[in-house]
Amino acid sequence: MQYEVVLPAAGSGKRMGAGQNKLFLLLANKPILIHTLEVFQHDENCSGIWLAVKPEEREYIQHLLDKYSITKVKGLPDGGEERQHSVHSCIKEMEQVDIVLVHDAARPFITHDIIAKLTYTAKEKGAAIAGVRAKDTMKKVKDGIIIETVDRDSLWMIQTPQAFRFDIIAEAEDVAEKVGFLGTDEAMLVERLGHTVHIVEASYENLKMTTKEDLVLGEAILRKRES
Ligand code: CTP
Ligand code: MG
Repeated sequence: MQYEVVLPAAGSGKRMGAGQNKLFLLLANKPILIHTLEVFQHDENCSGIWLAVKPEEREYIQHLLDKYSITKVKGLPDGGEERQHSVHSCIKEMEQVDIVLVHDAARPFITHDIIAKLTYTAKEKGAAIAGVRAKDTMKKVKDGIIIETVDRDSLWMIQTPQAFRFDIIAEAEDVAEKVGFLGTDEAMLVERLGHTVHIVEASYENLKMTTKEDLVLGEAILRKRES
């Protein structure tokens, strides 16, 4: 199932505290951004990559793309203030395609089998997102007090990729911009238009590199995969 992928890469990595875009930090001697890009470069079903970047980082990112032979990038539009704006700026530049995947550039451990399940489900049903079951007991808390213990069986921790038929995500992004709605993921924009979004069980390894501890886990995942 052919698809194009949008990779928002225009963040600042504040929680990582590295004083630079965390995507340039190295895991096993390679920038996080390149680990992520290589998954899609080597996925035979991926027919194009759209990367939202900060204007001042475009030249360095282009240098990395050349150095690591990432050839599928079709555009490097300017990112925006929020992640959602960065995703939208890519979708606005895309030609009509069947399936669009949105994936955090900061999640380098995504695998081909999860991508395939997502694209297949999105093609069949319109919208599908990656997630894993909550592992811990979940409670709702307000002002330091437990309000309720939430039924864990119905709780999932949501990741990316999130896969959509192009017309669905393009409309959802346009409407969100028009009414000034800001979601924490793409599925929220699609849900509010009344579309059904399906979950695909992904992997606890599909971590987002967010804080320093994640880098340690990331190195361990890479070591395990190489052994
Ligand atoms: N991102 C983006 N544009 C923004 C903000 C985030 O393209 N305005 C991207 C990041 O580069 C990252 C992905 O969205 O690949 C997920 O965001 P997050 O993990 O929050 O990264 P940062 O925003 O960079 O980190 P922080 O929130 O700690 O500053
Ligand atoms: Mg952020």
